[in-house]
Amino acid sequence: MSGNGSIRIYFHLPNHALFLFSLTNIPNGCTISKHKFGTERTINIARYNFLNPFTLERKGITLKNRIVIPPMTERMAMEDGTVSRDELAYYQQCAGQAGMFISAVANVNPLGKGFEGELSIDDDKFIPRLSELAATMKTGGSKAIIQIFSAGRMSASSILRGKEPVSASAVAPLRMGAETPRALTEMEIIQTINDFGEATRRAIEAGFDGVEIHGANTYLIQQFFSPHSNRRTDDWGGSIENRLRFPMAVIDKVQAAVDKYASEPFIVGYRLSPEELEEPGITLDDTMQLVDALKQKPLDYLHVSQSNVWRTSIRDKQDDRIVNELIKDRVDGAFPIIVVGSLSTPDQVKKAADDYDLLAIGHEMIREPKWVSKVASGNEGSIRYSINVNELDELNIQPSFLEMIEMVSGGPKGVPLTGK
Ligand SMILES: Cc1cc2nc3c(=O)[nH]c(=O)nc-3n(C[C@H](O)[C@H](O)[C@H](O)COP(=O)(O)O)c2cc1C
Repeated sequence: MSGNGSIRIYFHLPNHALFLFSLTNIPNGCTISKHKFGTERTINIARYNFLNPFTLERKGITLKNRIVIPPMTERMAMEDGTVSRDELAYYQQCAGQAGMFISAVANVNPLGKGFEGELSIDDDKFIPRLSELAATMKTGGSKAIIQIFSAGRMSASSILRGKEPVSASAVAPLRMGAETPRALTEMEIIQTINDFGEATRRAIEAGFDGVEIHGANTYLIQQFFSPHSNRRTDDWGGSIENRLRFPMAVIDKVQAAVDKYASEPFIVGYRLSPEELEEPGITLDDTMQLVDALKQKPLDYLHVSQSNVWRTSIRDKQDDRIVNELIKDRVDGAFPIIVVGSLSTPDQVKKAADDYDLLAIGHEMIREPKWVSKVASGNEGSIRYSINVNELDELNIQPSFLEMIEMVSGGPKGVPLTGK
């Protein structure tokens, strides 16, 4: 062992070349320097596997680490959906951390709006501020992805300023006070698909590195795939092939916009929810068929939306298989998978990284926006796992955001807050 925490090892390889390896301790792992005949190559080996770079092979885009900030609607946009200064401040504080930083969801057309304070990407007038958002999210080398959707029946006429929510069919979601939507006409379906294409063009013009198609969490794309919300008898409903038609058409339109407008490799990801509790509802078998269909598309990643990375079926309590394992087996390397749900500590993330490609950290990134740098610098002891009410301002959590966190998390435990 030589001084300052480094080790030197000399040995001969079979071809008799003399190598010297020196291992130098760094907070986040070790550096291996390989010397041969006076030349030196340094390889950084991170202590945590998730801190190593990861390449999205299809486009040859390298993410600086395997951490993803998943989409989190903060409801801090202006009334019309323009990115606000508060939002920019919030994104700034998480910037430079994750390999991939996915924005809050943005609606692709006015009827697609699902929340007050939601981002919009339904008009060119939003591009200048979206450009500021993209630039902020890209600070420090993160790839900036914008998530795009239509909320469909998960909206309300109050949010749509008097207009009825729309969906595949006129079936209300199973939640208190939900309105019955009206079924989109065939022309409106085509228009909505085109709107996803236009949203992608705007995302490219605004300087994002990619879009995530939001096919999860019960919004419009999922509503077309679901036998609960899709009771159509035309080509857009009925058989599973017909229920797949809308999601597949959206992907094709997004890809067509990428082919037409992107001058550099542009990431396209898809988010799905593997099951629904409704009867009838999306089953794991349905999801396997969705995965098969997705494998036919040139996607850069699949994002599996769940509340826990190691969750088993929510429909069949007897089934003890891990849903992400089933999906991974079915994907069979066609594209990388992002897993998400209840990852907080470096050890939990490491465990997930042993099995999956990319690891998304939601709630914990709200509590601790500097999570990655703290882990990378060996400062794990200072990671926040709860926040005090006095810290809300410092963390740029406006009251509308706090309400959203509580709504998504089923109460204040989602933060969790101390000092109340
Ligand atoms: C405040 C909040 C807003 C969210 N908004 C979105 C969203 O816009 N789009 C989406 O797909 N998921 C959204 N989610 C779900 C997260 O992306 C993530 O899947 C979920 O929080 C589980 O991960 P976690 O346990 O690490 O927080 C939201 C979650 C939270 C807490």
